[in-house]
Amino acid sequence: MEALTAGVYHYIPSDHSIQKVADGDRRRDIAIASLGQMWMASAPVQFVVTAEYSRITIKYGDRGVRYALIEIGHIGQNIFLQCQSVGLAAGIVGAFNDREVVRVLGIETDHEPIIIFPVGWQA
Ligand SMILES: Cc1cc2nc3c(=O)[nH]c(=O)nc-3n(C[C@H](O)[C@H](O)[C@H](O)COP(=O)(O)O)c2cc1C
Repeated sequence: MEALTAGVYHYIPSDHSIQKVADGDRRRDIAIASLGQMWMASAPVQFVVTAEYSRITIKYGDRGVRYALIEIGHIGQNIFLQCQSVGLAAGIVGAFNDREVVRVLGIETDHEPIIIFPVGWQA
């Protein structure tokens, strides 16, 4: 398996790949942005799930927000199921400062962070 260097990676669903968008370990800063929940800083991986609402509301109107949040719930469930199947622990963090998370990751401001899954400790 290919080892990843520390950084921010963007998931590309169309070919199930990841693309590095920034260097550097941001996990501690994400924990600080999450109202100081430092337990999450030690997670080998933090999945930050964001929504770009305009991409779905253009098709479904305001109801698109509901669909995006439903899909994020499915994503989270899949992350938890996969962790369980390979013996890794997973957490869930909804308490964070949205703007701080966007700043720490250096992502575009129309990508709204919805939920963070710190995962990867040995269960
Ligand atoms: C949407 C959502 C957001 C959560 N955010 C946090 C969080 O920021 N910090 C935290 O320690 N736990 C968070 N939790 C975890 C809950 O506090 C709780 O531990 C978890 O849902 C398990 O609940 P149970 O012990 O009643 O089964 C969150 C849970 C959910 C569903």
